[in-house]
Amino acid sequence: MNNNTKTRIETLRTLIKYHNDQYYIHNAPEISDHEYDDLLNELQTLESTNPALIDPNSPTQQVGNDTALQDGTIAHGIPMLSISNSYNTSDMYEFDTRIAKDLAENYTYTIELKLDGIAVNLRYKNGELYQALTRGDGKRGEDITENVKQIANLPHKLTSPYPQHLEIRGEIYLTFEQFNKINAQRAKNNENLFANPRNAAGGTLKLHDSGVVAKRGLSITLYAPGASDQLQAKTQLEFVNLLKHWGFNTNQTTLCANIDEALTEIKKWQEERFNLTYPTDGMVIKVNSFEQQKKLGATTKSPRWIIAYKFPAERAKTQILSIEVQVGKTGVLTPVANLKPVLLAGTTVKRASLHNFDNIYTKDIRVGDTVEVEKAGEIIPYIVKVVPTDKPRQTIIDLPSHCPCCQQKVKKDEDGVFYRCTNPICGEQFKSKLKYFASRNAMDIDGLGESIIEQLINNNLIKNFADLYKLNIEQIIQLDRMAEKSAENLIKAIHQSKKQPLRRVLYALGIRHIGTTTGATLEKYFKNIDEIISASIEDLENIEDIGPIVAKAIYDYFHSEEGIRTINSLKELGLTMQSAPPKIKHKQIFANKTFVVTGSLKHFTRTTIKEQIISLGGKASSSISKKTDYLLAGEKAGSKLKKAQELNIPILTENDFLNLTQID
Ligand code: IVH
Repeated sequence: MNNNTKTRIETLRTLIKYHNDQYYIHNAPEISDHEYDDLLNELQTLESTNPALIDPNSPTQQVGNDTALQDGTIAHGIPMLSISNSYNTSDMYEFDTRIAKDLAENYTYTIELKLDGIAVNLRYKNGELYQALTRGDGKRGEDITENVKQIANLPHKLTSPYPQHLEIRGEIYLTFEQFNKINAQRAKNNENLFANPRNAAGGTLKLHDSGVVAKRGLSITLYAPGASDQLQAKTQLEFVNLLKHWGFNTNQTTLCANIDEALTEIKKWQEERFNLTYPTDGMVIKVNSFEQQKKLGATTKSPRWIIAYKFPAERAKTQILSIEVQVGKTGVLTPVANLKPVLLAGTTVKRASLHNFDNIYTKDIRVGDTVEVEKAGEIIPYIVKVVPTDKPRQTIIDLPSHCPCCQQKVKKDEDGVFYRCTNPICGEQFKSKLKYFASRNAMDIDGLGESIIEQLINNNLIKNFADLYKLNIEQIIQLDRMAEKSAENLIKAIHQSKKQPLRRVLYALGIRHIGTTTGATLEKYFKNIDEIISASIEDLENIEDIGPIVAKAIYDYFHSEEGIRTINSLKELGLTMQSAPPKIKHKQIFANKTFVVTGSLKHFTRTTIKEQIISLGGKASSSISKKTDYLLAGEKAGSKLKKAQELNIPILTENDFLNLTQID
């Protein structure tokens, strides 16, 4: 092993973790699955030839990558594993050779389309749907039951006979038509567009308002059993027929006598998939017999009886006109290529992210080059490679020495991949920071979208987080597309965010290495922000799950000029920055009770009231039905209040609710 190998392994781990976050947390992938798998394979190969460098925290050692898992996750009956990918026929033959060797008996395959959506685990008891979970980290997922219940083609009650306990897996997806409708609406509202139908489906499932989810028009298809009572099916093909009998939408499934028949089917769909109304990214080949599946077993990451064949992404050739550098929320400089417009998979591509300077140098990308562009997902294009030429080329761009926005000197990260502008008052950096600060997992400030942020900063109304809390209605009304009512709502949302618990504030500040998980970990150990500020690096390192790099990043932030100024000013403006009381201590006084919240509340935001209801054992739903147990009505409650009265549903005021919750 030499030093270069060690550096490359670290670089790959950093890059893979970065792309995991882009895909799972931000719903904004920058590279295709193929390129991601190439990075992962390179890392796997290097680690297997250098076992001394294997690290339990390496992305190769982890099953799920959803590092944004919240508290209150629920265990799957059996883990939800992933499927190994292949991109060519020789991988498929290799897979078949291994199956033949391991089974040493006759076998058949089924082949199905691989829908590009979000995996879900459903639970039915006595034929009734009662729980839906995300894949999460593969072992535990988040409860998305209320949102999943809004899916029109999902039966809530099954056609008998069915086992008493049934767990099944499927994919939630959006048709191209629904996806385009959603993005058209978002464009109208000046909101960020979803990159592709998969991200739009993922974003929709994370919403807190099942009424909005219902309008998004999600669909579902089911394809695999989870942990269930004895099933009346001995093969995948029989299982798909059972699914149909129960009333589920299923993938079209073809039985193949051998791998060649499966490859013929793949060839057929490679072209035909463009006529489908929903997104697919490949095909899934499964050993048909459940008994043989069991014999073959699984590695920690994926079962040995299944493989996915990924369809090649669409590519086009074009020329790089120029390369510019953008500044992200932690000051990371991202090079972006401006391209000669080219038509690719239905849209005109004009720009492509170059991700980082390592990528530019590894692929030797230069201005003026002809390049092959591909789309990761449906919208985000990236550069696969440079088309070789005999003609003279321009020189490769220099590594950045100064920030393109504020002209301050930039610094290279210690992991050697990213370059950063370290100027705390860099304008571009602050725009990215504020977007993140206001986002759903952070301070959750409704209505503070990208265009408002741009205007607030360009009009010099705010220069730092604290300024946000000093804004008044008159200043906001002046902005484009701002009516009095929405200005009022925005001020209210900003004000309400002052009570966000410590973990959200820690995440919102955009401190390097602090995601929602680290935020939640810190909140378990510290009562308030002052306790974190006075913690030593050693104190922080002693916390389970916090390593030296993260400990140093936290310590550095709270001892930096910017950190101290930010925290002091936020404190002065009334942000509480306290840890929320631990959830486990609450008595489950609302066990199995469904609440609907309406009207405006004084003590809670929509998110905190829901968190409170859930922590006390209840459920929060957005629409009133006979199943609603309580309506919590704030001021100016409207149609929901009327409907609750008609249905004789008990109505609580905010004070009633507070009185009830003080039992604890
Ligand atoms: S079977 C071991 N069948 O692809 C997993 N999965 O990339 C058993 N997927 O997590 C699942 N179409 O979300 C199966 N026809 C299909 C599928 C399918 C899409 C998803 C699934 C899985 C992911 C892996």
